[in-house]
Amino acid sequence: MHIPTLIARKREGEQLSPREIEQLIEGYTKGEVPDYQMSAFAMAVFFKGMTPVEIAALTRAMMDSGDCFSYPDGHPPIVDKHSTGGIGDKVSLILAPLVACTGCWVPMVSGRGLGITGGTLDKLESIPGFNVHIGLDQAVSQLREIGVVMMGQTDRFCPADKKLYSLRDVTGTVPSIALITASIMSKKLAETLDRLVLDVKFGSGAFMQTREDAEALAASMIAVGLEMGVEVHAVLNPMSEPLGRAVGNSLEVIESIQTLDGGGPSDLRELVLDLSEKIVSVTRGELIELLDNGTARRKFDQLVAAHGGNSADLPRLAEIHQAPLIREVIATAGGVVSKVDAGLVGQAALQLGAGRSKASDGVDFAVGFDQLVKCGEPIHAGQPVCRIHARTAVDFDMAEAMIEKAVTIKP
Ligand code: URA
Repeated sequence: MHIPTLIARKREGEQLSPREIEQLIEGYTKGEVPDYQMSAFAMAVFFKGMTPVEIAALTRAMMDSGDCFSYPDGHPPIVDKHSTGGIGDKVSLILAPLVACTGCWVPMVSGRGLGITGGTLDKLESIPGFNVHIGLDQAVSQLREIGVVMMGQTDRFCPADKKLYSLRDVTGTVPSIALITASIMSKKLAETLDRLVLDVKFGSGAFMQTREDAEALAASMIAVGLEMGVEVHAVLNPMSEPLGRAVGNSLEVIESIQTLDGGGPSDLRELVLDLSEKIVSVTRGELIELLDNGTARRKFDQLVAAHGGNSADLPRLAEIHQAPLIREVIATAGGVVSKVDAGLVGQAALQLGAGRSKASDGVDFAVGFDQLVKCGEPIHAGQPVCRIHARTAVDFDMAEAMIEKAVTIKP
């Protein structure tokens, strides 16, 4: 296959055959197709798009570039959720153990935070000892024991996506519906799922800025799922204000534990239930019962122990990761909260050190925000808008200025 011709054909908007796409991805994974050719191909796809048949072929080729999960005969339904990311989105930490309580197996392979959106793996690693680096065989053994595993992508899991995603990140080719679909769905389908629910976000704190773009991405991912024989549901959700009241790694784990204990902010709890409902065979009422009677929390404790952590540390997370400076931001005028700009809050959390600007950065588990006000809530002058957890006074001042910009209070 002559790669320059293939790139030129895509540049002219031609449809490539599944075999051509498969060979391209095979060559790229083996290192026979260099990054410069793959970058040009990604840019051609960015401008010309791909047909559903091409996207399905790309997804399959990326999925087949490594190992897929395989399960023993007679296994329970295998289900998962994927979110296209958002600010304060800690749904996975609650949904995975909750859904496992219904008898499904949840093999959740997650990512790290990049830019303003946080990552499930970073949040989990704020629990001392929690090991996300496990192989597929060990993951399946854990599923047999407790029905849930939360792990990172291994070197043998969709290696083509690992390479291509890093390349897209530095070549301006991330926001392509075809490439996002293939990237997300190759990883989810390599989990060999029966059912998948997609939480597709739109708004200032999301990848997709408009509802229309989010709808197009959802339709594209559903089409690939159908093509591959997996039941895929998509739920569109605005990401204009952060989810829940906490943003930052350990702060989000603390809020997740409150939700697993039957409490937590109502928007977070409702979203967990909305998404879980799509992939389980029990009713919403039964899911609520599992949250309220401690069953989901016990499953989370089991999950923490299975990954090398100690559930006795969970009630002490605030102490374990206490930031040097924890101070309130005070409202200077009263009224009703009309806006909490998720994008700005995410940016502020990133600058406090909760996220990473490039893949090789580390994250600070302690910093971020909690007790954040929600849209529609009344507030008086002198009441707190949120608490900032910062390393230094300079960081605090920066975050305070950004929060003042992010939060609008209508008199
Ligand atoms: N998440 C992914 O895994 N891939 C993308 O392309 C975008 C978001």
